[in-house]
Order: sequence, then C-alpha cells, then structure tokens
Amino acid sequence: MKQENIERTITIKNLAECLWCAPLAAHWSFTEWYVERNIPFAVNLAAYQKRGNLNSVPLCHILFLDDLPIGMGSLKENDLWSRKDLNPWLASVYIIPQMRNRGYGKILISSLEEKAWTMGIEQLFLFLGQHEQSKLSHFYSALGWTQFDEAVDNDGKPTRIFMKKKKLIL
Ligand SMILES: CC(C)(COP(=O)(O)OP(=O)(O)OC[C@H]1O[C@@H](n2cnc3c(N)ncnc32)[C@H](O)[C@@H]1OP(=O)(O)O)[C@@H](O)C(=O)NCCC(=O)NCCS
Repeated sequence: MKQENIERTITIKNLAECLWCAPLAAHWSFTEWYVERNIPFAVNLAAYQKRGNLNSVPLCHILFLDDLPIGMGSLKENDLWSRKDLNPWLASVYIIPQMRNRGYGKILISSLEEKAWTMGIEQLFLFLGQHEQSKLSHFYSALGWTQFDEAVDNDGKPTRIFMKKKKLIL
C-alpha cells in the first residue's frame, strides 16, 4: 500500500488555552512517572489544573500535531524536593512514544526556555528521569544544558541536575 507523506501543522499551546488537556497531561504523567508511586490520580490532575497560567510559574505547554495533542512540558517550582534552594525547573517533559525521535521534544523544550527567558527568568534547572539516563544526558547537553550537580530524586534514587542560563545579548 502506498504511504503518503502527510504534512502536519505543529502548534504549541499554553495549557491555559486548552484546559481540556489537563486530564490528558495528568494521564501521561501518571503512566510515565507515577504508576509505581502511591500518588492518587486526582492529586496529579489537580497539579496540572494549577499549571494553567499564561505568564507565571507553574505553567505547562502542550504540543499539537494539527488538532492532536502529542506532548507536554512544564515550568514549575520545587520539582526536586532535595534541592528546594534551586528554582524554577523545566519539568514533566513528555512526547507520546509513537512520535518520539522526530524533533518534537526539542521544539517543546525550546518553547519552554523562550517562555522562561521572556518572563525574566535567568536560569532553569532540570533533573534526569530514571529511564535511559545516558540518552537523556546527551539529549539535554546537545540543547545547551550543563551538568550542575548530583542529587537524589523524589524516590531517593540517584539523579543528575542540569542547568541552563539565559544568554546575554550584548
Ligand atoms: C525525552 C523525550 C521527551 C524526547 O522527546 P523526542 O521527541 O523523542 O526528542 P527529539 O526527537 O527532539 O530528540 C530525540 C533525542 O532524544 C533522545 N532521547 C532522550 N531520552 C530518550 C528516551 N528515553 N527514549 C528515546 N530517546 C531519547 C534520543 O536519543 C535522541 O537523541 P539524538 O537527537 O542525539 O539522536 C521523550 O523520549 C520522552 O517523552 N521520554 C519519556 C519521558 C522522559 O524521559 N522525559 C524526560 C525526563 S528528564
């Protein structure tokens, strides 16, 4: 069967503009990070509903292909409980498995970085998830993030903190 190359339009919306995506974002987050943690779905959903801010943290971006939501990422405070001295964080970056390795993750992260810099944030932090840490480390390094420290994540497992600073325009 002939496969056609369908061009799709990429749009990034703030969750505030598509609050109907909050349960979807909570579901992605739950299946990716919380299946083995004792956090009720309702708590997770409430956390996403609070990210419906346009110009303040916490906020969440949803990436659409045409009208189909396929990924998300957030800016939030206190993402890493062992380092509450560092803020704010790039958090909960997720692309649905069927759409990975096509550049969408990078587009989403760029949009969140730009949003942070335009809101006057000077530096962002993130910590690596537990799956495929070396791939993640390579992925963020290629996007200009540098390793800042080692730490324990919210489950007490070892992780690495990365940081990115806003570029100064002279
Ligand atoms: C990490 C993630 C958002 C990347 O999204 P993506 O759309 O596939 O990213 P892109 O297509 O822009 O870039 C692909 C790169 O991601 C890398 N990558 C990082 N983590 C990966 C993972 N867990 N699985 C597959 N590829 C991964 C690939 O190696 C590839 O690197 P390359 O450009 O050097 O070849 C996506 O893999 C994902 O949702 N993973 C599960 C959730 C997660 O781990 N989030 C990050 C927590 S810190």
